[in-house]
Amino acid sequence: MAVSGPADTVDTPQVSSEEWRDAMGQFPSGVTVVTSWDGEDAVGSTVSSFCSVALEPPLLLVCINKENPLSAPVAKAGVFGVHILAETGGDLAMRFATAPDEERFEDLDYGGLEGGAPHIAGAPVFIDCIVENRHAAGTHDIIIGRGVRILKGDEASPLVYYRGGFIKAAAS
Ligand SMILES: Cc1cc2nc3c(=O)[nH]c(=O)nc-3n(C[C@H](O)[C@H](O)[C@H](O)COP(=O)(O)O)c2cc1C
Repeated sequence: MAVSGPADTVDTPQVSSEEWRDAMGQFPSGVTVVTSWDGEDAVGSTVSSFCSVALEPPLLLVCINKENPLSAPVAKAGVFGVHILAETGGDLAMRFATAPDEERFEDLDYGGLEGGAPHIAGAPVFIDCIVENRHAAGTHDIIIGRGVRILKGDEASPLVYYRGGFIKAAAS
């Protein structure tokens, strides 16, 4: 039986944005706040498209919309930081997704260590990264970061994003 790949098929099926969102929504993810510097100003955004890429060397990726105000600063500064949020971090996640850029760090305890990205105190895990690579992917850029420093906060259950809302991670 001849098998042809989708690329060879004239009538390649299409997936609508709605179907895509619905399908992707079935996959639960953790939630992070990614930070960088815009000159002397800290910038940050909530990002769920994050995953580990390699152990040797320690690489991770985040996908950032080209229109996200974090996109240009990360490219320019060449560094970014990933805060993996605790289950109690829902408000922080919404702040870093919806508040005006200049208000996102208001009243937060943050600072940067020796050439590192802004670190917000309190996250269970913070990973300081240098940009290793950047790949264009539709509306987004896939940014590969090399982890250069890890700061640990108190251990906590993770914040989980699922079907457009936050849920608790089920205990096994
Ligand atoms: C749970 C959650 C996950 C998100 N994940 C991403 C992501 O992976 N990449 C991205 O570019 N934006 C993501 N966003 C959207 C950005 O946080 C938001 O567009 C960004 O902070 C810019 O805000 P503005 O468009 O109001 O300037 C996410 C938002 C939420 C609430």
